[in-house]
Amino acid sequence: MLAELFDDAARSCHPGSPLTNRLLTDAAADLRAGGITTKVMAGAECDRQGTVPGLRFAGALHRLVLEGRAPGLAKHYPSVGGQPHLPTLWEDALPVLRENTAVLQHRIAATVVQTNEPGRSAPLFGGLQVAAHEAARAAGRHAPFSVRLLEIGASGGLNLRPHHVGYRMPDGTVHGDPDSLLVLDPQWTGLPDVDLGHKLRVVGRAGCDINPVDVSTEDGRLHLSSFVWADQLERWNRLRDALDLAAVDPVRVEQAAGPEWLARQLAHRERDVLTVVWHSVVWQYVSPADRAMGRAVLADAAAKATPTAPLALLVYEPRRTTGENQYEFHLLLKLWPAGLSLLLGHGAGHGIPFNWEIRPWA
Ligand SMILES: C[S@@+](CC[C@H](N)C(=O)[O-])C[C@H]1O[C@@H](n2cnc3c(N)ncnc32)[C@H](O)[C@@H]1O
Repeated sequence: MLAELFDDAARSCHPGSPLTNRLLTDAAADLRAGGITTKVMAGAECDRQGTVPGLRFAGALHRLVLEGRAPGLAKHYPSVGGQPHLPTLWEDALPVLRENTAVLQHRIAATVVQTNEPGRSAPLFGGLQVAAHEAARAAGRHAPFSVRLLEIGASGGLNLRPHHVGYRMPDGTVHGDPDSLLVLDPQWTGLPDVDLGHKLRVVGRAGCDINPVDVSTEDGRLHLSSFVWADQLERWNRLRDALDLAAVDPVRVEQAAGPEWLARQLAHRERDVLTVVWHSVVWQYVSPADRAMGRAVLADAAAKATPTAPLALLVYEPRRTTGENQYEFHLLLKLWPAGLSLLLGHGAGHGIPFNWEIRPWA
């Protein structure tokens, strides 16, 4: 039942976003009472839990606010300079829902929840540094390898420029690009035993997604922005900076399913370049058949890897820990032909903070 899915989504926003939590809790009550939310959600009554109808509802409303089409509600949204006042949030949402029922209905039906978290560039950057250094060590080279980065499930491609992002360390040193439009405070505990000051050379990069977001368009930028919870200003600012960086350093994300695209990309390999296959928070959405095919494509490429044209798999994905529904995000690295398999560390879902703790990964 839709109201229960809204309640689930509301719980998932607690305590991260009091604004979204309250909006969805009140919307769930409105659905039960047969109020305006029932009309707004018409057509979505039988949607699967995985499509998260509640977050699509919240995203569509946020988008109206961002477009300047809901001034009465905007005063609660920090993303446009507002200040949430939870006791009056719902009464201010009601006129917006009534006046924009058709447009909201259409958006909710037409969109899938899409996030692209630039904070994950931080574990990616550190992981690439480890991979480039380890591949060089295994090949008996002095200088770390240059990298070709292939991202599956790249969304808007905001993590396809990890070398053009700055990473500020507690002592004030900035690794990566100190002059970048996007400088992250990665909140690292521990450090990998490699030279993070090494200028990472990314000589090629490409990404695919079954639902790519074109961040060169206003529509694409609004789409990604609408799914950031409006009272999470740190994430909001990070996304804004990442979008600005993408505008001056564009990379197109190809519309394709991961395994087929990967097979095409891995068909050619460059000498003296480490090819890195990367994905973050994607695996859970991939069908069992595509997972099997992805593994086969990678195994085939791994068998062909050589010391001068090595291959790495670097992933940042949730793994279940002891408690029920308890997840930790692990950064894992596999390297061929070196035969290295490492757990590099673990961190928060958005990549920040992150704890470096390198050990063998079985
Ligand atoms: C939660 S988002 C993560 C996006 C990005 N990797 C990040 O960390 O910000 C998951 C992405 O995976 C994409 N996706 C899901 N299944 C896919 C598949 N089989 N092939 C390619 N992309 C896929 C979705 O469209 C979505 O953009």
